[in-house]
This record gives sequence, structure tokens and C-alpha cells, in this order.
Amino acid sequence: MGQKKWSKVDAYIAEKLLPPDAVLAAALAANAADGLPPIDVSPPQGRLLNLLVRMSGARRVLEIGTLGGYSTIWMARALPEDGKLVTLEFEPRHAAVAKANIERAGLSGKVDIRVGKAIDNLPKVAAEGMGPFDFVFIDADKPSNPQYLDWALKLSRSGTVIVLDNVIRDGAVIKSKSGDASVEGARVGFDFFGGSLRLDATALQTVGSKGYDGLAIAIVN
Ligand code: SAH
Ligand code: DHB
Ligand code: MG
Repeated sequence: MGQKKWSKVDAYIAEKLLPPDAVLAAALAANAADGLPPIDVSPPQGRLLNLLVRMSGARRVLEIGTLGGYSTIWMARALPEDGKLVTLEFEPRHAAVAKANIERAGLSGKVDIRVGKAIDNLPKVAAEGMGPFDFVFIDADKPSNPQYLDWALKLSRSGTVIVLDNVIRDGAVIKSKSGDASVEGARVGFDFFGGSLRLDATALQTVGSKGYDGLAIAIVN
């Protein structure tokens, strides 16, 4: 059992549960054409984000790490008419591809892409009074997770859902001295979620087309 089977099962899940979607397919094709790294959430994970946004009744979503906007589109589609999603991306090239993908999805009216280091834009988002957010998806440079989680809490209210991607990393998360800054970022995420009385959290190990990884989900008390 390994990657080949995980990918086949992910394809089965998508075939059975996710309708063919020209807009999402076009977004992935545009990402590939521009040479963006293929590290978007998988289709079943995108649907999971969509379901979580709907289940939480979120109207305001904050995303840290846009890439080509694939996860953005899944989440923005879950929003009501007056819903808003702010997404933060460091690479202008990624943001430009995302902008086109989001326009093609007909979601430009709901999505605000802020280009720059997330750590510089988070205080601006706060100062503009865009919070509190109902749902936060953190999926950018993993070593900055501590700062992103601090900001997520600052920009939260009781009931806000926080999702942190890539917290298992092929199981390397259990190594205390992995020497990998991204693994350290995942471990700090566990310490943050486990150490805050304001949060109830869990984490799920996942296999699929993206290998063996996982995500953590928390709610703010
Ligand atoms: N959420 C996307 C994938 C994001 S990949 C999806 O599932 O479709 C991570 C993204 O974070 C990359 O586009 C990378 O450029 C961006 N990133 C890296 N460092 C960043 C920073 N300091 N501030 C904001 N974005 C950053
Ligand atoms: C990587 C980043 C991600 O956000 C992800 O979901 C998978 C891989 C990476 O940087 O390798
Ligand atoms: Mg990710």
C-alpha cells in the first residue's frame, strides 16, 4: 500500500462525490501553465474546506497562502451572497494567476487578494476592521505558523474555526529534532492548539493524492 493506491482512491472519491468542474479544472491547468508548484489542497480536501465553511455558517473567511486560488475558490463558493474572503499571498506571480482563476470562477466580488508578506498584511487587515473572521485557513510558509496562529486568534470571535494545513508531514511531526523548519512549524501548531485554553482542537492524518500528511482543526471557545 502506498502512493499509487492512495491516488487511485482519491480519484475514486472525486469521481463518486465531486461533480466534474470546469472552473476548478481550468484553475489547476492555469497554475500548471504558469509553473506554480502543485501543492494546492486535493479535490476531496477542497470539498472538505467548502463543507466546513458551510457547516460553520461563516460569512467572513481569512486565508493565509493563496497560491493559484484553488482552495480559495472552494471556500468562497461556500459563502452566502454577502460573504467575503480575504486571502494573503507573498508571490505576485501566484497572486496574478489566482486573480484570473477567481475571476473565471465569478468570485471576484467576494474575494480580496492582498499581495505581500502575510505578516505585514495581517496588521492591516486588523486595522481595517475586517475581522473578526468566522473561519481561518492557514496554508502558507510553515515556519511562520506561530505568528499566523497568534493573528488568527486575535482576529477571531467565540465560535471561529481555524484550520491548519500540513501538520503531519509524512509522520515527521513526531520527531522533536527533525531539522526541517516546516516540521517544526507543524509541531509549534500542535503546541499552540494544545496549549491554548481558548481552543479545542484535533488533527487528522490523511493519505491521498498529496501523500501522507494531515490537517488540524480548532474552534475558539
Ligand atoms: N492554499 C493554497 C496553497 C497554498 S501554497 C491551495 O490549497 O490552493 C502556499 C502559498 O503560500 C504559496 O503560494 C506561497 O507563495 C505562499 N507564501 C509563502 N510565504 C508566504 C508569506 N510569508 N506570506 C504570504 N504567503 C506566503
Ligand atoms: C507543501 C506546502 C503545502 O501547503 C502543501 O499542502 C503541501 C506541500 C510544500 O511546501 O511542500
Ligand atoms: Mg497546504
